[in-house]
Amino acid sequence: MTGTAAISTAIPSPPRGTTYNNYLIIDEKVALVDTVDRSFFSQMKCNIAHALGDRKIDYFVINHLEPDHAGCLAEAVEKYQPEKIYTSPMGEKAMKAHFHYEDWPVEVVPTGSEISLGEKTLHFVETRMLHWPDSMLTYCPEAKLAFTNDAFGQNIASSERFVDEYDRHEVLKAMKEYYANIVLPYSPVVLKTLKALGEMNLDIDMLCPDHGLIFRDEDCAWVLEKYKEFAEQKPQNKAVLVYDTMWASTEKLILAVATGLNEEGISVKVMNMKHNHHSTVMSEVFEAAAVVVGSPTHNNGILPMMADMLTYMKGLRPQNKLGAAVGSFGWSGECVKILNKWLEDIGCEVVEPNVKVKHIPTHETLKECVELGRTLGKAIKEKTA
Ligand code: FEO
Repeated sequence: MTGTAAISTAIPSPPRGTTYNNYLIIDEKVALVDTVDRSFFSQMKCNIAHALGDRKIDYFVINHLEPDHAGCLAEAVEKYQPEKIYTSPMGEKAMKAHFHYEDWPVEVVPTGSEISLGEKTLHFVETRMLHWPDSMLTYCPEAKLAFTNDAFGQNIASSERFVDEYDRHEVLKAMKEYYANIVLPYSPVVLKTLKALGEMNLDIDMLCPDHGLIFRDEDCAWVLEKYKEFAEQKPQNKAVLVYDTMWASTEKLILAVATGLNEEGISVKVMNMKHNHHSTVMSEVFEAAAVVVGSPTHNNGILPMMADMLTYMKGLRPQNKLGAAVGSFGWSGECVKILNKWLEDIGCEVVEPNVKVKHIPTHETLKECVELGRTLGKAIKEKTA
């Protein structure tokens, strides 16, 4: 008997939870594609015993060495004693660096390699930097199915297994959040990989990521198209205003900029760092044409939560953004200069004149902020026309 069984291991922590998926392929040989986070090893063993009965696992396929997928690999090798462990060339290097093994039966499978399980074959495609240099995709042509590891993941834990069984709006939202916070810096690689996969002309009925729900039938084309859109980072008619404030002066400046943007018909999202996690902010920034940042001067710098946010944003390398900065100060007044430098480092095109105010904004200062919002709004409309 041959078949394919999916195993999902759920945790509840992000808003919709998440899963660490791994997969068993049951043929003449049995292959386990990926493992799970170490803390879920017991649950994985139970799921495997339930799906496999007395049969042994012959092969491991390790698509990615990050510990959420390979954290229990040493324990799994000890438990299942696989004949072979297949991984990419960079995967072998990462495996050695993580586990310092001496006698594991590792076999490197670069792009173009294939193995037989009996009726089914597995073909390997390196997908470097999606998410790490070692990442690869495993394709089974007989089942028209690809195991994509991090690619196409979403942080959703549910009793449903397939995207078509779940609320599509929520799936898309989760896909965007995942992309904005994990895949975004590798967008050029996503475009190259999608092109390469297209040229391979793989016949695919199912895309099985290692986080969240599985895409099947027409949803495969849907997620591929969405990833192309995400990677192209075309800006939308939207601005995100992200700030922290000490005594509400910077908040007043931000709200006045929001008024100006609104008057130009721009969709506005105002996000106080005291009430928003940086990943939530990044999910909004991802699609926006502009980001407005605000902080008072604090000890000759900016407030720490804004420094944290900007450090995170810079690492994710968002493209095609306009930027503007506002801030209040008591005496030294470096905030706007520092915020502008951050915007430039992130790669934003800075729209002037930025606004800063000593202590409490006057009516005139707030009018300057409204005007900055209008100027930025016009620039957004030109950019998104
Ligand atoms: Fe889900 Fe790169 O690990």
